Amino acid sequence: MRTQVGIIGAGPAGLLLSHLLHLRGISSVVLEKRSRDYVERRVRAGVLEQGTVDTLVEAGVGERLRREGLPHHGIELRYGGAGHRIAFEKLVPGRSITVYGQQEVVKDLIAARLAAGGDVRFEVEDVAVHGLEAEPYLTFGGERLDCDVIAGCDGFHGVSRPSVPEGVLSVFERDYPFAWLGILARVAPSSEELIYTRTERGFALHSMRSPTVSRFYLQVPADATVEEWPDERIWAELKARLESVPGFTLATGEIMEKGVTPMRAFVVEPMQYGRLYLAGDAAHIVPPTGAKGLNLAVADVRVLTDALAAYFENGSTALLDGYSEACLKRVWRAQHFSWWMTTLLHTFEDDDPYGRRLQLSYLDYVTSSEAAATTLAENYVGMP
Ligand code: APR
Ligand code: PHB
Repeated sequence: MRTQVGIIGAGPAGLLLSHLLHLRGISSVVLEKRSRDYVERRVRAGVLEQGTVDTLVEAGVGERLRREGLPHHGIELRYGGAGHRIAFEKLVPGRSITVYGQQEVVKDLIAARLAAGGDVRFEVEDVAVHGLEAEPYLTFGGERLDCDVIAGCDGFHGVSRPSVPEGVLSVFERDYPFAWLGILARVAPSSEELIYTRTERGFALHSMRSPTVSRFYLQVPADATVEEWPDERIWAELKARLESVPGFTLATGEIMEKGVTPMRAFVVEPMQYGRLYLAGDAAHIVPPTGAKGLNLAVADVRVLTDALAAYFENGSTALLDGYSEACLKRVWRAQHFSWWMTTLLHTFEDDDPYGRRLQLSYLDYVTSSEAAATTLAENYVGMP
């Protein structure tokens, strides 16, 4: 079997890449180890930058997103007994975000790939990468797929990055000493906009998915398990952290899903070796505080699509050679922003009273200075 681009992983990166390539007349095969049902149900973040929405709409997969996505023009930062709005419409006019679950993006992309006759294979076993230096091919479940280029879109735990020879990639990473417990609840959001809350008990986030479904996160110890968090404990803790301003009551409801997400930052450089190009979580992850993971994956595959189109159309490798550098600029901006949001809003065990005062001082600055608020807003909605 032969294709132009062999893609490992049917997350947002792999699926969108396959679709964007199809629109440019380039063939691909997507190999995914999980089932279709599994990837369509995997609950992740749900904040899409303007540029991400534009890419999905232009690719013809934005119809339901436009109908069901929730446009947001601000967020609230809550701390010290008060809420402060970061007003995108004033600080970054014309730019906003859309709240739409990542698994909805995945469903829309799978439907579009299949409707266009795309080759997406689920439950594929033992994908392995070969011949990266000259003649790349993939093997899986007893089959062989020859290709011109391999795209490693298989997330942080995939096989593509580990198949690069030792010593080629530089790794930059940081683990945070806490995790996020995330829940989906069948209850109308108690706020129209996202609320990022810093309290002495730790961070909490109120987000949403629809007029009847809310999404919440709690900062928990790094080794926390869902078993330690029965529903009543979750609601009590969310109330203790979010009901920290007068007059705000958190509505509760049935919890439909629970999960613990580790907080980690990771980047490899370069995002390429021989005929292998890494995209999305395979190359970098951010702590979810800035909601950048999916947006970075989309930005990577946009750059990769243009580079591959130039290569297949006229043999030019200039854009492919510049792929890693072009992506890493955005990746590092997002790394810094995610680190900054995380540091601003979480409690750290080793923090002394001096450190806490610095944190509060910065929060006061961000919520009172237009210059500082603009820094937050322009990063949050996404750099051009
Ligand atoms: N063989 C085939 N598929 C694999 C393998 C493998 N050995 N290992 C992993 N995969 C699949 C995973 O099952 C998953 O469906 O690769 C896919 C990677 O998808 P994601 O983890 O969603 O990563 P990505 O597409 O880069 O999207 C980035 O997703 O992880 C979130 O928060 C992250 O929002 C960000 C976005
Ligand atoms: C989410 O809605 O899942 C979400 C929102 C904002 C974040 C992270 C996750 O920063």
